[in-house]
Amino acid sequence: MNIIIDRASPIPIYLQIKQQIRDRIVTGLLPPGYRLPPERKLAERLDLNRSTVLNAYHELKAAGLVESFVGRGTIVLETEETDEGAGEVTDSASAPAPLYWKPMLTAKAAAESSSLIRDLLALPKRQDAVSFGVGVPLPEPELLEELQQMAGRLFTEDRGEVMLHSPVEGRASLRQALCDRMRDRGIRCPKEEVIVLSGAQQGLDLIARTLLSPGDCVLAEEPTYFSALQTFRAAGATVIGVPVDEDGRLRLDAMESLLRSYRPKFIYVIPSYQNPSGRLMDASVRESLLHLAYRYRTPIVEEDPYGELAYGEKSPLPIKAMDEHAHVLYIGTFSKLLGPGMRIGWIAAPKPILKVMGRMKQLNDLHTNSVAQKLLDAALREGAVDRHLARIRTLYRARRDEMCAALKRYAVPGMQWDVPMGGLFLWLRLPGGVNVQELAVRAADRGVDYIPGAPFFAEQPKGSYIRLNFARADIERIGEGIRRLCAAVEDAMEGPEVTGEREQEGTIPIV
Ligand SMILES: Cc1ncc(COP(=O)(O)O)c(C=O)c1O
Repeated sequence: MNIIIDRASPIPIYLQIKQQIRDRIVTGLLPPGYRLPPERKLAERLDLNRSTVLNAYHELKAAGLVESFVGRGTIVLETEETDEGAGEVTDSASAPAPLYWKPMLTAKAAAESSSLIRDLLALPKRQDAVSFGVGVPLPEPELLEELQQMAGRLFTEDRGEVMLHSPVEGRASLRQALCDRMRDRGIRCPKEEVIVLSGAQQGLDLIARTLLSPGDCVLAEEPTYFSALQTFRAAGATVIGVPVDEDGRLRLDAMESLLRSYRPKFIYVIPSYQNPSGRLMDASVRESLLHLAYRYRTPIVEEDPYGELAYGEKSPLPIKAMDEHAHVLYIGTFSKLLGPGMRIGWIAAPKPILKVMGRMKQLNDLHTNSVAQKLLDAALREGAVDRHLARIRTLYRARRDEMCAALKRYAVPGMQWDVPMGGLFLWLRLPGGVNVQELAVRAADRGVDYIPGAPFFAEQPKGSYIRLNFARADIERIGEGIRRLCAAVEDAMEGPEVTGEREQEGTIPIV
């Protein structure tokens, strides 16, 4: 936040600060949920007395624009205030009033900007922090080396073709390679039924644009992928969570009754090593779910980013592999196998719907990045992806075992978890009585992060959960991370007041 102080101005400095922050709030540059810099830090940065900044913050509080929370600092509030008077007391030459963006937003965008920010995560600041938070793997050196060599060849051997457009649906040879890969998982589909996407997220977005209208309903197993909930809701749909039983099995009785009552547009599931719960849907539930979909003539959107990350037996066949009546839209991605920066996913779907999605994709981004498509195609054909997969299966299995062993050692009474059989995530139920807000602060203080569970539920969950990515941290650091986490949970149960200021620099997406 770049505040400009004009010491020659007749306007008191605290009012200059107040006005510049106010302008940024009412114009939406500082969104609701944004944490202002701690007073002491801002004072140091501007070379001012702390009391000057304190006065500015008091003014902002009195205007209902910010609020201070114990342990969280000073947070920007939702405001209806307009930009009338923005910049009125600052000298326009030194600090021009920012443009007032809020009224330019579409209703959809305005709703989105506030709901995203509310889910800000407290990132640990300590140098020795252990991260169980963000839901993606870290790049592995052997893979990087192989990709580097292939990328070098791409740019030298194909005389610039790599820099040209690709077909909207994706390069034919990559589409074929994806079909070959799906065949190994039991899915038989021709390349004409596949579109290469800029990540699985684009598949969710295309499905929402193609199938959802405001007022529609979607059924999703509970909990479910946060960003899917957001995407479907942004299209105006209501998502209804379908519960699981005590053993984590999807309640097919509840699914059927919801299908009957709500006639949803589709059912959304992640059957293998789900995000966030790590659960594996067994083959019989997959089959029964497909038959329910047939009976109620309802499509299934099946996401499968983690299916190949099995640490024991292979995961059961995807639902798409059992589908003989064109009911399943299947989305895959390389974000969890190789890295999200690749931005390559795909959708396999019945031709009539795929055609429409192709047109939607063209409006969206013309086509998926040609360089990434060619690189991935080479990596698949030369076996680099499979070699990498074999390495990370061993690596992640060991990290999972380490996390489970550490949890056994340090768990606080009342914590519950299942050992995930694949994927990246361990879903931890917290003991009753934990204050989840305070846990976020305590864990950040102790230098460990995780993803809170509540955003993954369509409605208010019963009980508190957190998601731990076991695959990301160094194996030597996992035990220490779990020790810190369990200590933070104990702190958050005892409930003493948290003091001190903490600064947060950004929002990270919950993936
Ligand atoms: C179920 C699910 N779908 C989609 C995504 C996003 O994938 P991509 O990076 O390919 O867009 C994730 C990533 O966390 C995910 O867990």
